[in-house]
Amino acid sequence: MNLDKLLNDFQKDLSKTKKSDGLEELRIKYLGRKKGILTKITATIPSLTADERGGVGTKVRKARDRIERLLEEAIRRDKDSREEKIYDVTIFGNKVDHGRLHPISLVIEDIKEIFHYLGFVWTDGPEVESDFYNFQMLNIPPNHPARDTQQTYYIDENTVLRTHTSNMQIRFLKQHKPPIRALFPGRVYRRDMPDATHLPSFYQLEGLLVDKHASMTDLLGVLDFFAKRFFGQQTKVRVYGHHFPYTEPSIEVEVLHPKKGWIEIMGAGMVHPNVLKNVGVDPRKYRGWAFGMGPDRLVMLRYGIEDLRILYSSSNNFLDQF
Ligand code: PHE
Repeated sequence: MNLDKLLNDFQKDLSKTKKSDGLEELRIKYLGRKKGILTKITATIPSLTADERGGVGTKVRKARDRIERLLEEAIRRDKDSREEKIYDVTIFGNKVDHGRLHPISLVIEDIKEIFHYLGFVWTDGPEVESDFYNFQMLNIPPNHPARDTQQTYYIDENTVLRTHTSNMQIRFLKQHKPPIRALFPGRVYRRDMPDATHLPSFYQLEGLLVDKHASMTDLLGVLDFFAKRFFGQQTKVRVYGHHFPYTEPSIEVEVLHPKKGWIEIMGAGMVHPNVLKNVGVDPRKYRGWAFGMGPDRLVMLRYGIEDLRILYSSSNNFLDQF
């Protein structure tokens, strides 16, 4: 009886066995209590002559030990490989910190979405702007009293930090032929002392439509549609006359807030014929309307925020709530 050959055979068998059932069959084949090969060999020992018997018992025991160990290892490996694929979904995961959109961005995205439905596109524009685009092309000549209300930061005589997003009416109309439907969200700057409702930099979102048949009633209908989409179907809107040099007639728009009463949310009006002329659009063929709203104000109304400054504070305690 050749125990080395036996061990060899076992190892060959083992390397061919993949499944758990196979391992059990292998155990029975070599170590089985009745018909196992080693069991049979052990059973022959007593019938050997004393000469033949020398050390055979020890050798057989060693072979059995070795086979048992190899089988155990194989069974453990097989079990491990199956357990790796079992997941406990009830175990708490590690909290992964991730960024999110700022409430002002969320509101701007909502406004875009509402106007996108009406066929509007949107684009960015420069915050450092020429006096020419920020004022003059918008029918606000030098020394015009309307400049006072804008409290402008001048970079030099001809360059300003834009005081409103209306500069984009000019820029867009210079580059695109009507019909036009566009939104211009972005930052604007005014020399204001910071307090709960004023900051020297804040957001505006401009809307502009220029077409052959644009009318004031369209504008009113669109703004009503917007307010209802944004604040809810029950929202009441009212407008009253105002003055902007670049719109005629001009209006201010208010929505009725359940707690705060009527709140102004934007200025608007029919684009002044001079503005159309300035950008080479014939005011006898085309008309336009425009509006400029304050997303910051809308954020405060929507989320019940009382102090504007928290929107610009970068406080995680605040931002984590959105
Ligand atoms: N530019 C105006 C403001 O800053 C808002 C406005 C935009 C008014 C477009 C009329 C038309 O208050």
